[in-house]
Amino acid sequence: MGSAAKGWSSRSWVSEAAVGALLAWFDRQGRVLPWRETEDPYRIWVIETLLQQTRIAQAEARIVRFLAWFPSLQALAQAPIESVLEVWQGLGYYQRAHNLHRAAQRLHAQGGFEALWTRPDPLQGLLALPGIGPYTARAILAFSEKGAYLPVDGNLVRVLSRLFADPTPATDRAYYQGQADGLPLAWRQRKVAFALMDLATLLCTPRQPKCLLCPLSAFCEGLRQGAVMRFPVRAERPPRPTRHFIFKLYATAEGVWLVQRPPKGLWGGLWCLPMEELPAPAAEKPTFCHTLTHFQLMGYVERLPSPAEGSRPVEWSVLGQYGLPAPIKRLLLHEAEAYHRSL
Ligand code: ADE
Repeated sequence: MGSAAKGWSSRSWVSEAAVGALLAWFDRQGRVLPWRETEDPYRIWVIETLLQQTRIAQAEARIVRFLAWFPSLQALAQAPIESVLEVWQGLGYYQRAHNLHRAAQRLHAQGGFEALWTRPDPLQGLLALPGIGPYTARAILAFSEKGAYLPVDGNLVRVLSRLFADPTPATDRAYYQGQADGLPLAWRQRKVAFALMDLATLLCTPRQPKCLLCPLSAFCEGLRQGAVMRFPVRAERPPRPTRHFIFKLYATAEGVWLVQRPPKGLWGGLWCLPMEELPAPAAEKPTFCHTLTHFQLMGYVERLPSPAEGSRPVEWSVLGQYGLPAPIKRLLLHEAEAYHRSL
């Protein structure tokens, strides 16, 4: 890992000067975001949770609405989950709403934030609550000025990996947070976090960083090495495993027999040929190959003399109205053409 192994805090330039330049830039160019005004830990928690759900442009209205319904930890803890889900509607990831509510109930029962501050380690107290991860826990502490942390999200990984020319893969968030936790105190404050977030969005962007305008350019090791774009380093993906499936085709001049996939898992809810996974590759060559996120799918088509159990007929003329997995759609398109039908 080279010099990165020594840790960021040992770099000679990790000094007041870098932080000073960053904060001077922030005072001139930083974004004015209304939700940053508060130091109330409950509000910060809600805000950070909602910011993970939506784009910044839509976040503000969502934040205002949520906090109008549940203005305090007590209000959220005592609300029925149904009303929390109602306000959450449209944000997706409903598990997060459940977690937020459950964590609020637990924290409230433990005496709320005031009791938390009296504990020897408030960070651990927050991390023990459902749904609160390393970033959110530190954001709550840093932004309410109850703890000296630099919470590291994906954008900060980009900035910090460039600044320190750190080759650790960006996926190793725990490493980046650990390094940030070891930075001198001057770095671990809310204003530095906001400044780095703005730098990430306005200058240190993923594709075309504006290094000429950057207040940290004099300190940036990535820039000094002429290698800003080499960071953050992406982790190499392990090769995808291959899985083999047999697809059972029964078709006539009128249509094809399909089943609906179970709602969860591979192609959840889509219409498909009846299929079965094979324990090993078949003897013949696969009919098609399809790359999915987690594996490479080899498909073998077996023609049936009669419809498979549980399948139902779908006429060629209406097949276009059915949600089908892409490779199955292509396959059936060919099949329909064989019957001189267009879909
Ligand atoms: N200010 C406070 N939290 C923020 C976030 N998550 N993203 C951008 N700006 C913020």
